[in-house]
Amino acid sequence: MRDPHTLGIVGAGRLGAAVARLALRAGLEVCVAGTRGPAVLADRLAREAPGARAGALSDAAACDAVVLALPLRRLRDLDPATLAGRVVIDATNHVPLWDGPVPGVAAAPSSSEYVQAHLVGARVVKTLNHLGADELEHDAAPAGTPGRRALGVAGDDPEAVRTAMALVERLGFDAVEVGPLAAGAGLEPNSAVFNGLYDREELAALFSRPVPPTPPGPPR
Ligand SMILES: NC(=O)c1ccc[n+]([C@@H]2O[C@H](COP(=O)([O-])OP(=O)(O)OC[C@H]3O[C@@H](n4cnc5c(N)ncnc54)[C@H](OP(=O)(O)O)[C@@H]3O)[C@@H](O)[C@H]2O)c1
Repeated sequence: MRDPHTLGIVGAGRLGAAVARLALRAGLEVCVAGTRGPAVLADRLAREAPGARAGALSDAAACDAVVLALPLRRLRDLDPATLAGRVVIDATNHVPLWDGPVPGVAAAPSSSEYVQAHLVGARVVKTLNHLGADELEHDAAPAGTPGRRALGVAGDDPEAVRTAMALVERLGFDAVEVGPLAAGAGLEPNSAVFNGLYDREELAALFSRPVPPTPPGPPR
């Protein structure tokens, strides 16, 4: 399993800042790209994720893995060429109430397939999307902790999936491979897994049979 040492994050909001803090705690070097100028972003990171470096999308893309933590409706801001060949961890969700209409996203089971269709050549993996940013920091625990929370990982590129699983483990969660990128639908809003609290065995068991739908929860 390839263990990432540097992490790029696209988006410096609630999720991006939480992932940055967690990654820094885990000893990773972190570079965050946002929409604001470098000085504004650097100032924000100094307050919210001290130790994280502010950069451009190309700086984040140069890291061992890049987490997408921007609203899905803003995906098309990203130049696919910059992320081609990179391990891209899609932590976004399609939340119609928040995103508004995103043309094309409903065409595939998983919104990560929409992400992959835009980011041609990127090695997209879905994970880190199915728990709240606050839980991400609160529930992270060392490997071997009884009942450690598990996160699902879905992707079509086996090496990229291994990198994402190594990242998830390093951040403090058990990583469970749940299938190809399309199986990421089982980690998204309206799935049983979304906002659910599962350990490795429980999460793996859910994916050994069709994941039952649950009523929509509040948007994240
Ligand atoms: N919050 C959670 O608990 C949570 C948990 C799991 C998954 N998610 C998913 O993560 C995604 C982000 O959620 P969030 O709660 O972190 O949203 P948020 O607090 O609104 O932050 C989104 C950030 O993305 C930035 N952004 C927008 N366009 C960008 C671009 N082109 N390049 C770089 N940065 C850009 C925004 O900057 P500006 O403000 O300058 O536009 C903002 O800082 C969503 O898809 C959400 O469903 C969220």
